Amino acid sequence: MKRREFLNRAGAFSVAGVSGGLSAPALLLGARPAHALGDDIPVGLLFSLTGAVAVVEHTLHDAALLAIEEINSQGGIHGRMLRPIIEDPASDPATYADRARRLMIRDKCVSVFGSYTSASRQAVLPVVEQRNNLYWYPTLYEGRECSRNIMYGGAVPNQQQDNVISWAIENFGPRFYLIGNNYVYPKEENNYCKKLLAELGGEVVHEEYVPLGHSDFSSAINRIRSEKPDVIFATVVGDLDVAFARQYHAAELNPDQMPVISLTRSEVEVKAIGGEAAAGHFSSAPYFMQHDTPENERFVEAYKSRYGGDQVTHFVSEAAYFQVHQFKAALEAVDPQNVTTETIRAAAVGKKLLAPQGEVLIDENLHTHLWPKVAQWQADGQANVLLNTADRVAPKPYAAYEGQSCTGEGLIKA
Ligand code: ACM
Repeated sequence: MKRREFLNRAGAFSVAGVSGGLSAPALLLGARPAHALGDDIPVGLLFSLTGAVAVVEHTLHDAALLAIEEINSQGGIHGRMLRPIIEDPASDPATYADRARRLMIRDKCVSVFGSYTSASRQAVLPVVEQRNNLYWYPTLYEGRECSRNIMYGGAVPNQQQDNVISWAIENFGPRFYLIGNNYVYPKEENNYCKKLLAELGGEVVHEEYVPLGHSDFSSAINRIRSEKPDVIFATVVGDLDVAFARQYHAAELNPDQMPVISLTRSEVEVKAIGGEAAAGHFSSAPYFMQHDTPENERFVEAYKSRYGGDQVTHFVSEAAYFQVHQFKAALEAVDPQNVTTETIRAAAVGKKLLAPQGEVLIDENLHTHLWPKVAQWQADGQANVLLNTADRVAPKPYAAYEGQSCTGEGLIKA
């Protein structure tokens, strides 16, 4: 059954993930004691170390592993060490599902940490729901999902857009050119952007979706040149964003006249783009590497000393790092004789953690309260933060969809 059909049939209330809620087998599996802890605690790391998304996912793997090492060097959890079991799904969504199954069944992982793209998270979702395990997903994503088996550590649209859209209209003007890749994440972000633009008196001059794998942006750049929008609102991902930024710079389009505001560009993409081509453009994100707090200084120092002084941290690797610490804090609060998905999840919800970006908190909807920021890229590859929020911002995974919300009960439809 398609998700929308399920939601329509379910009526006003349903306990749901994208695959249509907990199936009967999942409920049965959930009823057994989920995790018999031995001398150590097996956890899965499911980030691509090869293939197209390895450039970014390798950094998520590294950050999660760093957190595991920190926890183990401080004595583990209840005296037990975390034992990372590493799988490389090679940037292929079907392989993520296969390896997730292996980590949960063969390796008996208590939780699995993984994924950058929404395509790979969606591939894992039915597996983690069926096994009634927990998948800790650190990446910004489109929302519109409400699984009780995914711990969402990245920003949803309201956490990246509420601050930046009004600020951009005020500072640059109302005419937006939307450019993203041709899959669910950019399309859903743009849905929310269009809602905000309509409310704030902005307009969309053009909306464009470049196929994944297509790195020639010349026709988009020609169109941008002729449309002369005030803002380029970008949800281009990974290597393709690197290509887009370089070609934009080579075409001598000037950020002073037509700035790119990206939801996906972080220090890791900027490192690949080159500081000069990235300089002057903007990103909206809950974390930037130069954030000046003792927690961030410790994180950046530890990361560089483990992986090399030229390495960068960014808003997705920061979440990959703090999610492992959230997992630890939750597990510490659980009776070692009663470690189940339900007890870990219940202990995780509402627990505050001082992350490098500030104090974060897991909502009852299993998404995370974060600290949105807007920053301008400098030629040295670092970001200069121009806009901060006074308080952390709650995640609203269904912000683009009137009358729908995601709560501790699952998806609620008004
Ligand atoms: C994404 O695909 N969630 C960036």
